[in-house]
Amino acid sequence: MANIDYQKMLDEVAAELRDIDDPGEVATYIPELRNVDSRKMGIHLVTIDNSHFYFGDSNEKFSIQSISKVLSLTLALKIVGDTVWDRVGVEPSGSAFNSLVQLEYEKGIPRNPLINAGAIVVCDILVDCLDNPKFRLLEFIRASTGISSIGYNPRMAESEKKCGYRNYALVNLMKDFGNIHNEIELVLDMYFHLCSIEMTCKELAQTFLFLAAGGVSPVVNEMIVSPRQTKRINSIMQMCGFYDEAGEFAFRTGLPGKSGVGGGIVAIHPGKFSVAVWSPKLNKKGNSYKGMKLLESVTTKSQSSIF
Ligand code: DON
Repeated sequence: MANIDYQKMLDEVAAELRDIDDPGEVATYIPELRNVDSRKMGIHLVTIDNSHFYFGDSNEKFSIQSISKVLSLTLALKIVGDTVWDRVGVEPSGSAFNSLVQLEYEKGIPRNPLINAGAIVVCDILVDCLDNPKFRLLEFIRASTGISSIGYNPRMAESEKKCGYRNYALVNLMKDFGNIHNEIELVLDMYFHLCSIEMTCKELAQTFLFLAAGGVSPVVNEMIVSPRQTKRINSIMQMCGFYDEAGEFAFRTGLPGKSGVGGGIVAIHPGKFSVAVWSPKLNKKGNSYKGMKLLESVTTKSQSSIF
């Protein structure tokens, strides 16, 4: 659809959804996440020609959690290329993000890089090939967005470490199968920091814009990954970005996207835009209840799904 009035569309979406009943709940299994104000709601859309549209709490930092798994995957693909796929699959899991059952059946090879187990393997790869992987990951994100204020929240990382029983179970199981090469503590330290990255909706939308622009970031005018890798990352987001609700998100919104238990979701429309939403209350599958509705309404109103 040509000449969409994105701001008018976002204002309509906000008016429709701001005050609806939200049966979701803020994630509590990571203690630090309990402190967030559950009434927050923001959205930011940026087009590939750098036009910005937004409403609500779109300029407030929040914990992007699993959304950052796309960024660690991108960095690993840049460094070691397709060898990533020797240690992690590209299939939807159809199970919860922190599930252990599949990993036992499939001999320590995670289904995809966006479930916790897969992201932990990607962290192991980064720990393997970088001197200071935590610093290098941030450096990569800051350089590809031009936003130097993007950083970790050490309290969040510490909070996850204290209660990360399932992640410890996942990494131990994979270590036993030989799919973790480094010390478990080192790998999990990387993983917990990865999940603690904070961004605003605006920063998140800008960070993911390269995936809407064939791998070139229109923000800093630089190629982040090749068009071929871009295709792969987008298809993985489409199939695996919402765990056992990936089908529902594709069905309702029709864009590649990624969610996090902080209540954020980012979605991209190749050739058009990147859009980030934040609303902390989660549905039963661990995805933002209102965030899913906001994005469904955005693609319905703008008739701009990829399907
Ligand atoms: O490891 C965890 O469980 C969290 N740091 C990340 C989980 C997450 O965001 C899953 N997404 N919906």
